[in-house]
Amino acid sequence: MTASNPSRELAGLPVDSRYWPVGRHHEVLKRSLSDIEGFWTDVASQLSWQRQWDQTLQWDPPFAKWFVGGMLNASHNCVDRHADSQRKDKIAYLWEGEPGDRRVMTYGELYNEVNTFAATLQDLGLRRGDRITLYMPMVPEFPIALLAASRIGAIFTVVFSGFSAAALSGRINDSGSKMLITADGSYRRGKIIPLKDIADEALRSSPSIEKVIVYKRLEKETELQRGRDVWWHDAVQGKSHFVPPEPLDASHPLFILYTSGTTGKPKGAVHSTGGYLTYVYATQKWVFDIRPEDVYWCTADIGWITGHSYVVFGPLAHGATSIMYEGTPDYPSTERWWEIIERYKATILYTTPTAIRSLMRSGDDLPRRHDLTSLRLLGTVGEPINPAAWEWYFDVIGGKRSPIVDTWWQTETGGILISASPNLGLVPLKPGSATFPLPGIDAEIVNEDGKPVQNGEKGFLVIRKPWPGMFMTLYNDSERYKQVYWNRFQDMYYPGDYAVKDADGYFWLLGRADEVLKVSGHRLGTIEVEDALVGHPAVTEAAVAGRADSVKGEGIIVFVTLKPDYKPSDALRQELREKVRNTIGPIATPDEIYFTGSLPKTRSGKIMRRVVKAVASGIEIGDITTLEDESSVEEVQKAMATFTRQIE
Ligand code: WTA
Repeated sequence: MTASNPSRELAGLPVDSRYWPVGRHHEVLKRSLSDIEGFWTDVASQLSWQRQWDQTLQWDPPFAKWFVGGMLNASHNCVDRHADSQRKDKIAYLWEGEPGDRRVMTYGELYNEVNTFAATLQDLGLRRGDRITLYMPMVPEFPIALLAASRIGAIFTVVFSGFSAAALSGRINDSGSKMLITADGSYRRGKIIPLKDIADEALRSSPSIEKVIVYKRLEKETELQRGRDVWWHDAVQGKSHFVPPEPLDASHPLFILYTSGTTGKPKGAVHSTGGYLTYVYATQKWVFDIRPEDVYWCTADIGWITGHSYVVFGPLAHGATSIMYEGTPDYPSTERWWEIIERYKATILYTTPTAIRSLMRSGDDLPRRHDLTSLRLLGTVGEPINPAAWEWYFDVIGGKRSPIVDTWWQTETGGILISASPNLGLVPLKPGSATFPLPGIDAEIVNEDGKPVQNGEKGFLVIRKPWPGMFMTLYNDSERYKQVYWNRFQDMYYPGDYAVKDADGYFWLLGRADEVLKVSGHRLGTIEVEDALVGHPAVTEAAVAGRADSVKGEGIIVFVTLKPDYKPSDALRQELREKVRNTIGPIATPDEIYFTGSLPKTRSGKIMRRVVKAVASGIEIGDITTLEDESSVEEVQKAMATFTRQIE
């Protein structure tokens, strides 16, 4: 068997080795690890720098500084480089709104818009180093705003538009943002999400915000607060002039992105300008094999890291053409994505296993009604993909022609770390395995003592060398940065995932090793959800567990004990559900809420999450000798059984 085009082989199709270069993945990986600095010097040189760096890596564990002394600007690299070239009239974004409205934006137009908005931000008092929060729908003004902020050296922090007012306010306050960019609203599944109203509520407890710029997306009355709020279209009036891209230190923060961890408080991952941009540039090429003629579609919302890296900075750094779509895949029907692929002749599709599983439920007929033959490469991200979903994606969407890159990475890693690489040479694919680390990534699987395990043995994934896309720290909390990621194993980055290598050395990612859930690919902390529940006056204690869900990957199961004055009821259950939605957002809505008399705890009073999780999943409970009160397990089981009977 030749390894030049394994997906074709997998599908029993002839191999076309002209299309996919023969596998250099291992060779490049090996070479990169033998000279990390030389390797990344070559990669970074492909970007445009305003000042050459003096030192490639300054590694003061666990703090890495890349390209020390170098200066560059992200918006210059993503916009000016193309607008000043023959790519000026090339399309940057093919945009489609949920109601069906469409816009096309070339690099030349993007350049004008970014400059205009950068001038507007300056005029409204935003300066280099200031933080600016974005709470935006998926419209072209979203990337424009990020690029404009980066042009003047302001540090942006994006809050996903599905988060609640409380979550938005918490992130604004932690980052100390002085400006907010939002919209009057957004369309989602035919309904309107009143973003400005939610933002107004958030701002009642976020006094650092001095100015709010509101993009008009809807035809609806919206109140602006005098002196604080301004419409985007009014603010940009008369500002169409060139704003020089500020030369920024390679380690100047480009953005802060909050993500969930094992405490109730989200962590602000701080990403650099030079290292981050180098890394997303490299991985956009290695993993997506991006070419000038591609029509590339990453379906992620810019509110998540996948959108930052592979909707905005990766594709734009390459001058690529991207599709951007505002709404959900099932509106007005589950044919929407296939229509979009057909209309724009998309060549690359990058999405989540959850989306694939949910579209798969509507059957093969809908995708088969559309011409999807333009697709040449497929990708997945955010959670493990089960072989059945992989096969469907490969057969029905990719027409058995397109390889699937299963990409493993995190908010903290900035870009993809483990994936096959069509550009370097595709290794034979195995459904469900992310295959091998990318060049420069020294990944290993270790046991509790930090020693590499044998192939076939499950352990903890670690990364043993820094890479340019690595976050620099947690905002205002370098202690937590050290604690969470670097304390578990000496001088190794600990991402919090279980993994195993098979006999051929392929990496299989097995899910989180900590109290973090992946619900529809969205990252949530169990403790975040518990904190929200305990915020309700009826609740004494709450325990949250993830349970396997055939579409969402994981669903949220909740057990609560009530204060003596409260009685279990459906109305209360509904209130608790609302409480979680209002505190975090609809993505955290519990699937099931059970009332119980007590929760399983250790003698020192800690809730035994392992036990709660086992009960929620109906699996073997295991050792409970450290349990304070064994009857609590029965109580929890009973609570589930009673409720289940009630709803049957
Ligand atoms: C999980 C998303 C299996 C993993 C880019 C990781 C995956 C967490 C994969 C980070 C994959 C991501 N296979 N699991 N291909 N990709 N994960 O920060 O548990 O939202 O730690 O970043 O998603 O989630 P985050």
